[in-house]
Amino acid sequence: MAVQKLKDDVYFVGAIHWDRPIFDELVELPKGTSYNAYLIKGSTKTALLDTVDPDKTYELIRNLETLGVDKLDYVVAHHAEQDHSGSIPAILEKYPEAKVVTNEKCKGFLMDLMPIAEDKFITVKDGDILDLGDKHLRFIFTPWVHWPETMISYLEEKKMLFTCDFFGSHIATSRIFGPKDEMLIYEGAKHYYAEIMMPFRTHIKKHIAKIEELDFDMICPSHGSVYKNPKFIIDAYKDWVSDRLDNEVLIPYVSMHGSTKKMVEHLGDALVEKGIDVKLFNIIEVPLGEVAMALVNDATVVFATPFVLAGAHPSIASLAYLANALRPKAKFASIIASYGWGGKAVDHILGLLTNLKVDVIDPVLVKGEPKENDYKALDELAQKIYEKHKSIGIVD
Ligand code: FEO
Repeated sequence: MAVQKLKDDVYFVGAIHWDRPIFDELVELPKGTSYNAYLIKGSTKTALLDTVDPDKTYELIRNLETLGVDKLDYVVAHHAEQDHSGSIPAILEKYPEAKVVTNEKCKGFLMDLMPIAEDKFITVKDGDILDLGDKHLRFIFTPWVHWPETMISYLEEKKMLFTCDFFGSHIATSRIFGPKDEMLIYEGAKHYYAEIMMPFRTHIKKHIAKIEELDFDMICPSHGSVYKNPKFIIDAYKDWVSDRLDNEVLIPYVSMHGSTKKMVEHLGDALVEKGIDVKLFNIIEVPLGEVAMALVNDATVVFATPFVLAGAHPSIASLAYLANALRPKAKFASIIASYGWGGKAVDHILGLLTNLKVDVIDPVLVKGEPKENDYKALDELAQKIYEKHKSIGIVD
């Protein structure tokens, strides 16, 4: 994308990847993404904050040329992942005098991942300041958002925070401050949080407390929109990492011949009648990101599956594995399943949920199509979920 001025001497010089369909071969990108790199012109030194994915190196270089950058002193690497650091070797080739400024851990990762000579690095510690003349960039270590080496930086004179993946969103838009509809920004950031940041809630709470000691009026992440109203995204994050739960049951399901679907729909109706919201997601059809977003605040998850070769359907097993890795804050879980001749689908799923601190409510297993007694068992499950939600004060 074209260069965009954010404040005097501070520019967006990154790239938009409008048609990237998936990230890490895992995270679907229905709205594309961007790799936000920023250029800061100080009175004595010039710094590039992060680079772009190697697919877009040419855009970054074109933007630097547009700004007439013929000498670059520093390339700050907040994070070693290739979508931000993958163009560092090309930048060092174009600007051989530039040094890579990063922390010791990130330096190690960068040297593992790409050809950068050790003497090209300047390493910094938490709180160190990079002097650019009339501007000063302070480094703040924020490990585990979402790798162990991640850090952010604070441009003191401009009151700007550069947070790399932290507060990012996978949205391709030519509007640097995001789509006009704030809800699109919120949804994009929540999607990103759900799939990338959710396992690190505890770290994020501490980082937000640290960040809030600073005086800033703009957050510049490395994906998606720049926030001119930082409170908007900070408040959203505070909610997502808090212990607050929604009075909602997520029911991800697969149904091979319709029996599991009948169970899901009956349970969903029974819950709604009790004043509980539901999300019924056929995970063969619904993008994973939607499921992950529901996991951010939902109080309960009910996995619904047919038995396949004595276990859960592989797609549900895969989802349970992912949910376990994302460590959502759900307090309750159950399983409903339809089987033909037996098996261990319940043990299979529960065995995949070892990270979840959930109270498991008795599963409902049905042989073949659900019958009257089976529907009663589902009504009882709905009642038990209602009582659990009532016990934590999220339903009347
Ligand atoms: Fe956007 Fe972790 O890289």
